Amino acid sequence: MKSGTVGVAVDHGGFPLKKFVIDEMQQLGLEVSDLGTDSEDSVDYPDFADKLVAAIAGGRVAQGVLICGTGIGISIAANRHPSIRAALCYDEETAVLARQHNDANVLCLGGRKTDEETARKMVRAFFGTKSEGGRHARRVAKMS
Ligand code: RB5
Repeated sequence: MKSGTVGVAVDHGGFPLKKFVIDEMQQLGLEVSDLGTDSEDSVDYPDFADKLVAAIAGGRVAQGVLICGTGIGISIAANRHPSIRAALCYDEETAVLARQHNDANVLCLGGRKTDEETARKMVRAFFGTKSEGGRHARRVAKMS
């Protein structure tokens, strides 16, 4: 896997925010793999969670972003896989804490609940923050 390669997958509820989020990630120097969907035609969010899960589990990307309408369904779907720690975040602080305390490897957003400025802050916070380790690493290890 090339260092800095990340994935993005969305359902139709997340599609309107997808390009904005990908542009932000690219501005951070990340190489982005766009895993769809590619329109507002109705699709099933578990199918797109699975695409990112497979890319992470297969070592093709290190981390990623999932977006559905609320962020809820796609985060539930992703978290069924043991190697995924998908964090549904709603502001800059939760995106920072998802990395510092939970070592989250997937940022989940609600496309219908998130404005572009907040999405920008969350993407920058998530990909710009490292896990703190220590007691947090112990807790994360208990989930594996
Ligand atoms: C699709 O209408 C919507 O249910 C989906 O995007 C998501 O919000 C589910 O949790």
